[in-house]
Amino acid sequence: MSASNSAPKGWTPSSWRAKPIKQSPAYEDPKAVSRAISELQRLPPIVHQQEILRLKKHLAAVARGDAFLLQGGDCAELFDYCQPAAIESKIKLLLQMSLVLVWGADKPVVRIGRMAGQYAKPRSSPNETLPDGRTVPSFRGDILNGFELDQRELDPQRLVRAYHHSAATLNYVRAAIASGIADLHRPLDWGLGHVRDPALKAKYSEAVTFLTDMLRFMHTIGADKNDKLDTVDLFTSHEALVLEYEEPMTRLLPSSHGLSGGGSSSNAVTSPPLAYYDTSAHFLWIGDRTRQVDHAHVEFFRGLANPVGVKVGPTTPPEDLLTILRALNPSCEPGKVTLITRYGAARVRELLPAHIRAVEGSEYKRCVVWQCDPMHGNTQTTTCGIKTRHFSDILTELRETLMVHAEEGSYMGGVHLELTGDAVTECLGGSENLDEDDLSTNYTSFCDPRLNEKQALEMAFLIADHHRTVRQGKPLQ
Ligand code: PEP
Ligand code: CO
Repeated sequence: MSASNSAPKGWTPSSWRAKPIKQSPAYEDPKAVSRAISELQRLPPIVHQQEILRLKKHLAAVARGDAFLLQGGDCAELFDYCQPAAIESKIKLLLQMSLVLVWGADKPVVRIGRMAGQYAKPRSSPNETLPDGRTVPSFRGDILNGFELDQRELDPQRLVRAYHHSAATLNYVRAAIASGIADLHRPLDWGLGHVRDPALKAKYSEAVTFLTDMLRFMHTIGADKNDKLDTVDLFTSHEALVLEYEEPMTRLLPSSHGLSGGGSSSNAVTSPPLAYYDTSAHFLWIGDRTRQVDHAHVEFFRGLANPVGVKVGPTTPPEDLLTILRALNPSCEPGKVTLITRYGAARVRELLPAHIRAVEGSEYKRCVVWQCDPMHGNTQTTTCGIKTRHFSDILTELRETLMVHAEEGSYMGGVHLELTGDAVTECLGGSENLDEDDLSTNYTSFCDPRLNEKQALEMAFLIADHHRTVRQGKPLQ
């Protein structure tokens, strides 16, 4: 095929290999890794490039301030979460949260799950010391090794297992959505019984009454016959940490029409332009530990046509932001890059303004999506050694972020949350007011603590309330 491709000069899906890299798996058997990579190269894409392009268009609307981005899911997704109930509860929660956000923000909501591929975890130490004094390799996510102590060695075949679990999860997401799991004609269970604060309860009830009435009204007048209400878009995302997995999933594909891009074209005159899509998910992000501007992950990302995210935190110099943006998005495509900010409640006010000014004062004005991750700067360890987060810290970082953006004239376009549809007890506080003693009731995360369904929904109500306050012209507090 003679169509030109849009890859930047000197870039190939494997050019990252010539760069220094952090968090890289040191496999013992390179031949077994090559075999796994060849196997992945032959398998079909998990997502289609047209879907990736559709998401990019939605994110351009977010960058303009015309839509809101909700992204959420587990910190570490396990292969074992590839089960119908776990998948369904996550879809339902994201849908329910997005309805609340549509009501509050009065804007379309773009939904991205941290799921169907979120199998790799960066670790601060390659080893961990067990209570009995033994030192073992740290658990690095199911794509690399297993949580069980006898599974801690790196196993290249897990790269292939990651593909199959990702594909099976997304297949079920698609099937559940196509079969009406997101059907808004069904009554939703808003379960506000746990909310003890009467003022909060009144506020949530107002939203629920509005949403329920609106859906009933649409049903009465037949407006819900519109196909759009039967289904929703749910895109997938993960941290693209393991480049041995992402590289073979990256394919040179036509950006319009065409299915495989692999067959011969009989009509060269109309060949659409080609671009490299990482087909493991719609949206990929670079984590806080791997965003060094001259390292492998930024190199890999700069050739992708996908919309991508970059975690931004206390260790990000404002000038690095521009270097990264110029590497990843030299043509200033709106919505191409999402900056996922995560400073911690105590530091957001000190650090975020300089980041906003660096970006919004450059050629990237109104071009990036500013997304708040109020989780990763707020992790703490209890006196008993349990990793947790306090709901009020998460909320404070979110509020401060919203306020700083309002002051700087930029738009906080989204939120990035670690959550689960299950009734876990991993984060403290919320309207159930979980305390340290409650954490042991149902703590199941293998990595960071997640908001449970009630806490997550509550977060959506609070963001919605903020937007309504702003729209009504009331001062923020
Ligand atoms: C994560 O999103 O789970 C994560 C590890 O975040 P960060 O890279 O921001 O620390
Ligand atoms: Co996490």
